[in-house]
Amino acid sequence: MSIDTSIFGPASPGAEAILRLFGTLTLFSALIFAIVLGVTLYSVIRFRAKPGQGEPRQVFGHTRLEILWTVAPAALILVIGVLSFNTLRVVDPARNDQPPELILTGHQWWWEVEYPQAGFVTANEIHIPVGQPVWIQLESADVIHDFWVPKLGRKMDAVPGRSNYLRLEADAPGVYVGACAEFCGAQHAWMRLRVIAQTPAEYAAWQQAQAAIPPPPTETVALQGAKRFQELTCVNCHAIRGTGAQANAGPDLTHIASRQTLGAGVLDNTTANLTKWLTNPQAVKPGNRMPHFSLSSTDLSALVAYLETLR
Ligand code: CUA
Repeated sequence: MSIDTSIFGPASPGAEAILRLFGTLTLFSALIFAIVLGVTLYSVIRFRAKPGQGEPRQVFGHTRLEILWTVAPAALILVIGVLSFNTLRVVDPARNDQPPELILTGHQWWWEVEYPQAGFVTANEIHIPVGQPVWIQLESADVIHDFWVPKLGRKMDAVPGRSNYLRLEADAPGVYVGACAEFCGAQHAWMRLRVIAQTPAEYAAWQQAQAAIPPPPTETVALQGAKRFQELTCVNCHAIRGTGAQANAGPDLTHIASRQTLGAGVLDNTTANLTKWLTNPQAVKPGNRMPHFSLSSTDLSALVAYLETLR
């Protein structure tokens, strides 16, 4: 699936407000730069040393000039302060104790995405209804991570032991790419995430599908995979709702086949790539927390067949 990976062009009210402020401040800076450079060049040329001229007249203090260069920057800072304040009101509005629609937890190196009201957990993909602000509670399971989806606005740190809140909104349906923006260890670069903005109807359908418990596989190989999943060490780290697997050290796999990527964005989610990942996750994403289990080829194809049924 090809997606627009551009990070330019705001696609939310918050991102638009930030871009406007950035544009205004860049313009201010350019004007100040031009004025300072202009006055400097003028002085260098106009007051340069000329042959036969003695020492220039010494000037000590100039009250009017000093007042001007104190008041002008102060006024400019006040203007910037008001503009920043107005931007903040759009980007970081009051939450008024509204419960979060989703709880996002940064892990080394993936994102746990929990929808507490709908009662399910997924990973590395956030679905939101288009045009509706969604409150996210940001947590970290280990070190400091940083949530950032450039087209949708501001960054926000995920700090261990502290809840941060962020309002996420998208103007148009689409897939918006994001990444962890705080260095957090070996695979920081492969701690990607995607925000998928959908029409309210599509979003509701997606939520319903995610909240459902997938039916047990019917096909022989997949059935064998389901059995092996419970027997092997998979269950020590992963959860699949409706089965005995309840751990949450690794991503919840209840609907893994419905996701776009594997390994927090390192691979597209295809059968070939899932096989590649299970064959040796350390070869695909060195340092990640999933060990190389050297699965037998029978187990490997059974597990792949089973996971592929988890739509
Ligand atoms: Cu998490 Cu960088």
